[in-house]
Amino acid sequence: MSATDLLRNVASKLTTPLLPDDYTRLLNPLWTARQNHGVIVEVRPETADAATVVIKPGWGWRFDHQAGQYVGIGVQIDGRWHWRSYSLSSPPSRDAETITVTVKAMPEGFLSTHLVRGLAPGTVVRLALPQGEFVLPSPPPAKLLFWTGGSGITPVMAMLRQLARRDEMPDVAHVHSAPTRDSVIFGSELEALGEAHPSYSLLTNIDAESGLLDVERLTSAVPDWREREAWICGPAPMLKSAERKWREAGLTERLHIERFSTELSSSASGGHVTFGTLKEADLDGATTLLEGGEAAGVNMPFGCRMGICHTCVVPLKKGRVKDLRDGHEYVEGQRIQTCVTAAAGDCILDI
Ligand SMILES: Cc1cc2nc3c(=O)[nH]c(=O)nc-3n(C[C@H](O)[C@H](O)[C@H](O)COP(=O)(O)OP(=O)(O)OC[C@H]3O[C@@H](n4cnc5c(N)ncnc54)[C@H](O)[C@@H]3O)c2cc1C
Ligand code: FES
Repeated sequence: MSATDLLRNVASKLTTPLLPDDYTRLLNPLWTARQNHGVIVEVRPETADAATVVIKPGWGWRFDHQAGQYVGIGVQIDGRWHWRSYSLSSPPSRDAETITVTVKAMPEGFLSTHLVRGLAPGTVVRLALPQGEFVLPSPPPAKLLFWTGGSGITPVMAMLRQLARRDEMPDVAHVHSAPTRDSVIFGSELEALGEAHPSYSLLTNIDAESGLLDVERLTSAVPDWREREAWICGPAPMLKSAERKWREAGLTERLHIERFSTELSSSASGGHVTFGTLKEADLDGATTLLEGGEAAGVNMPFGCRMGICHTCVVPLKKGRVKDLRDGHEYVEGQRIQTCVTAAAGDCILDI
């Protein structure tokens, strides 16, 4: 039994009606089983607008994620918890004491800007457990293609770090694009990997010098791309073009894509939303039920927050909601993804 479990057991015998976690949390905010927490150790600049955030998770964190997975990070700003997903840039390691995510501050982006420029060491953040299917099989395929753009390098960096650490580098063709030479995240580490591992070949495209590297230029730069299993992460148009190319080649099952964003172009009328029996809120038609529920203090389930993983699905007990991606309406009795839907009139969620 770990020291934390022991402490919880003793506390549970001594503390009624308060829960043992209430007492352990008084001693150290990272000691709680109800919600994973972490403390910011360092925010290390990578480029002018990107930084690696080093987080020490609380006791009980297992450090056994798969390279390529992401975590949810909750940051309290002005009394409200704001959640976003970030790929872990650190590889899994049972000896580790910290995890890292690498964040690019988006222009006008609320939380990314705060993480890169405003997060002080010592800040306590909330953590959602690692998840995601953008991972390598074990053992990795003999021939791999990585195509990454901008901050899309992060999940692939965790994979590369793990392959290098295990000295298991297969035949990897990696094409990475960044807007300018100064904005290449992990540029010198990638070059060093190329020098240390002859089977890893890197092509860095600088858009300002050579223009955008589209899927046609990618496939001519890597002529044997059809023979390689591909992992691709970057801006939405790049992912769309890759999906089309691999589909036309009949190779969809060899393509793995990680999306950082989803387009919510539709809007709904909004309405009065009841979350279970306890909380209610008036939400406008652009606010997702997930964000609205969190703002009302509801412990909403979530994963990617982008309509991909289905962790946020709850039954719609009454009323109508609208999918903000395509305008599709859901009616009572159906199960809905709260991260991409908004109220289309008054409704009740079974949560
Ligand atoms: C699985 C997964 C993994 C991810 N991994 C990473 C990662 O490793 N690194 C990383 O940097 N990001 C990653 N992301 C993206 C991340 O979760 C956030 O979406 C991103 O950091 C932007 O958050 P934000 O709060 O800054 O932006 P938000 O404030 O939520 O804004 C979202 C977008 O809208 C734009 N926007 C906001 N306000 C305005 C406005 N007034 N006018 C015009 N445009 C506006 C912003 O520029 C931004 O592009 C990942 C996402 C997912 C789903
Ligand atoms: S949180 Fe992943 S689909 Fe909603």
